[in-house]
Amino acid sequence: MKKGKGCEGKAPGMRVRGHPVLGEPPGGREITVFLDGKPLPAREGEPLAAALFASGIRVAHYAAEGREPRGPFCMIGRCTECRMVLEGKGMVLTCLTPAEEGMRLHTPGRRGKP
Ligand code: FES
Repeated sequence: MKKGKGCEGKAPGMRVRGHPVLGEPPGGREITVFLDGKPLPAREGEPLAAALFASGIRVAHYAAEGREPRGPFCMIGRCTECRMVLEGKGMVLTCLTPAEEGMRLHTPGRRGKP
């Protein structure tokens, strides 16, 4: 893989680099956020949903009825499918919430949880 394309740094796999229309993503410093207690890499200022996606996390919450997994869909704050609990803030839309060092996210409705 050519340098500057694909993934780089601590964030694995799915981060888009060298997009033909959007170019390079904004270059925030690498930080750590926590999902259900597990540390995940992120770039400061990127949407939390993008950081989760880059780490292979597709489930934001589980539906109240049926407990089906739900994940980001629109990425523009319209569908609410990316909602998660952020400690100190309550329910947030992760596609609109910029990542900050040490943020702690929780997956609502996770199996085995009320
Ligand atoms: S992905 Fe639709 S509101 Fe966040």
